[in-house]
Formats: sequence, structure tokens, C-alpha cells
Amino acid sequence: MSFFIFLIVLAIVISAAYAGYSAAPWVPTKQSQRQLVLDNLQFPSSHGGARGGFTVIDLGCGDGSWLFSFATKYPNIQAIGYDISLLPLLIGQIRKLLSFKKFACVHLRFGNLWHANISQADVVLIFLMRKIYPRLITKLAVLPPHSTVVIEAWPLPNLTPIQVITGPNLLPVYIYRGEQFHQRA
Ligand SMILES: C[S@@+](CC[C@H](N)C(=O)[O-])C[C@H]1O[C@@H](n2cnc3c(N)ncnc32)[C@H](O)[C@@H]1O
Repeated sequence: MSFFIFLIVLAIVISAAYAGYSAAPWVPTKQSQRQLVLDNLQFPSSHGGARGGFTVIDLGCGDGSWLFSFATKYPNIQAIGYDISLLPLLIGQIRKLLSFKKFACVHLRFGNLWHANISQADVVLIFLMRKIYPRLITKLAVLPPHSTVVIEAWPLPNLTPIQVITGPNLLPVYIYRGEQFHQRA
């Protein structure tokens, strides 16, 4: 039994270490930060954001906090998160279970963000280290032109955000459109 627990702890530690090395350690976005973005995020008119019914993908979703916040404001969305760190994913799955059917539209998946299919995403959420931005920009080239990319903390190099959301004691959040990544490809 204790060996079994040891293996679980080892898997949690190794997956967290790999995530930290790969793209970023688990640092959850503050609730006040999520609220500020949800209150101020401007969708394109073709997007239908105010009506809901769109797909949000969090690349490196942690415990899925961002997706739960989106699903609370827009209950008709599909919210999909990918993460390779086991502990936050487990916390997120427990939260989803405890919500019963409220968060049925939220899907938290164990998977590497670099393999995630984002070609149908309407909104992509990113809070990752800057060192991966060059590769990330290449990945974002498959996004639909109308899609909205939400980047927390550091802006992307050589791209002008269409909106910047700031608040006291909060990290800046930079908003881009999918079509900006087509121009770069
Ligand atoms: C700074 S946290 C952001 C968590 C969440 N998006 C939020 O804003 O609360 C970065 C997340 O990316 C995950 N991560 C790092 N590398 C990854 C990879 N290659 N594939 C999937 N997730 C990864 C980490 O495990 C961590 O949960």
C-alpha cells in the first residue's frame, strides 16, 4: 500500500517537474484576474460571444479555474483544457464531479499542449513562460481568423495586441485575434 502511495506521489512530482520545464509550472490565475478579463473581454461581432455557444481551450489548464469561470458566465460553451501535471488536473476533476451537472461542458484532459487540436477554438487561454512563445506563435497559425487569444503576463513578440486588460495588483492580459497569426505564418 505504501509503495502504491509512493508511486502516486512520484507520478505527481515528476509530472509537475516536467510541466515546469516544458512550458510553465502550475501558477493559477487569480479569481479577480479572471473576473476582470471576463468583464472586459471584447469578442468580434462574428463570434457571438455574448450569446455563448463557442469553444474555449486552455493550453495548460491547471485545475481548470479559467474554464470553470467561463462556463459559469457562458453555460452553453464547450470548455476544454489540457495539462500534463497530475495534481492540478485531479483537483479540477474533483471540482467538476462535486458540481454535479453544472460543469458538464468542462473537459479537463491529460495531454501535452503541443498536441492539442486548436483549429476549431473560438477562444484560447494561455498563461505560460515566454521562452515557448516562438513555438507557440507557430501553433496558433491554425486558429480560425475570428478567434480570440488571451495571453496572461507577457505580450507576444512583434505582434500588437488588439486589447490590453489591466487592473491594480493584477498581471496584464493581452488579447489577440486568430487572423494575426495567419499573417505571421
Ligand atoms: C501558469 S499555469 C496556468 C494554469 C491555468 N491556465 C491558469 O491560468 O490558472 C501553467 C500550466 O501549464 C501546464 N503545462 C506546462 N507545460 C505543459 C505542457 N507541455 N502541456 C500541457 N500543460 C502544460 C502546467 O502544468 C500548469 O498547470
